[in-house]
Amino acid sequence: MKNKEIVKAKFEKQFGTTGAFYFSPGRINLIGEHTDYNGGFVLPGAIDKGMLLEIRENGTDLIRAYAVDLDEYAEFGMEEKDAPSQSWARYIFGVVREIEKRGGKVRGFDTAFSGDVPLGAGLSSSAALESAFAFALNDMYHLGIDKFELAKIGQATEHNYCGVKCGIMDQFASVFGKKGHLIRLDCRSLEYEYVPFDPKGYRVVLVDSVVKHELASSAYNKRRESCEAVVAAIAKRHPEVKLLRDANRAMLDEVAAEVSQEDFMRAEYVIEEIQRLLDACDALNKGDYETVGEKMFGTHYGMSQLYEVSCEELDFLNGIARECGVTGSRVMGGGFGGCTINLVKDELYKPFIDMVQSRFPEKFGRAPKIYDVVIGDGSRKLED
Ligand code: GLA
Repeated sequence: MKNKEIVKAKFEKQFGTTGAFYFSPGRINLIGEHTDYNGGFVLPGAIDKGMLLEIRENGTDLIRAYAVDLDEYAEFGMEEKDAPSQSWARYIFGVVREIEKRGGKVRGFDTAFSGDVPLGAGLSSSAALESAFAFALNDMYHLGIDKFELAKIGQATEHNYCGVKCGIMDQFASVFGKKGHLIRLDCRSLEYEYVPFDPKGYRVVLVDSVVKHELASSAYNKRRESCEAVVAAIAKRHPEVKLLRDANRAMLDEVAAEVSQEDFMRAEYVIEEIQRLLDACDALNKGDYETVGEKMFGTHYGMSQLYEVSCEELDFLNGIARECGVTGSRVMGGGFGGCTINLVKDELYKPFIDMVQSRFPEKFGRAPKIYDVVIGDGSRKLED
């Protein structure tokens, strides 16, 4: 791991010593988008790229952190009043605060970290960072926190220190990832199943539009509010409905006149997406990748036209995939930029990439990035 050598050198230069290494990955999600905070299902997998950190207790009450990729340093205490101003440092601070809220005792430490998961590309670099610190601190201070709680600590960090009311998918995938497997996660009960994923004859490739998404820019939280508004309307007639997961199309139609047109469309997408994921899982079990791909296109349409979290660049990439005969393609993650995920037959891989690489720059004046997906393991300590 090339990053390890870089982090090691920077840590030594900054702190004059060496520490322990931990790694947490980013994630992909085959299907099931914006379903997690609605209590639905998701189908993510950890990738072979993520955040790597080196860490060592420093015998003080201070956290001294060095962000290698940004070449920025921050030093801060661990009480609520000590919140650092740099956004990257707030992830670390938030994880420490959330551990303390759960009764864990963290002492001061020195750390340096670096990532090879592209930022703002919808691959959950922030969840990778949170999970890396939650995992490392739990291990280093023998806190005995289970993996479910580690994921929830990352999620709570986003909610309480970074302003994004995200679901549990990203942190769960980062902590629980397993090489060669996707995770079919029920986000309401947190029951999960590892689904072997080795689509023979196909490749999974991400095309990065290089449009940086700004989840925190409130658009994400607004989607969540729309879902909650529709649940509140449905629950007046059906008190058993606590989340959109519990609702169906007929219930949504009943409240059509009581919710805004926009909120209606958001809920319509989510209800359909929860079903699409279940259908895609059935198809996956049968090795029917053509149906999985069809569902992915369905998700893209919904995310673009009903949930409205796509953008011109992503719609364009989706259009190229369709034109080229790619099996499935859709915007991945929160949206508003980032990548499309594409399920591509082996023989179409090269023509597809060629087409993307010539057409996208023609239209947008810059090159997209291509990442081949490798499904890797979740958070772990790196032994020498
Ligand atoms: C972001 C959030 C996740 C999830 C996805 C959309 O990645 O962090 O919780 O809601 O968007 O599926």
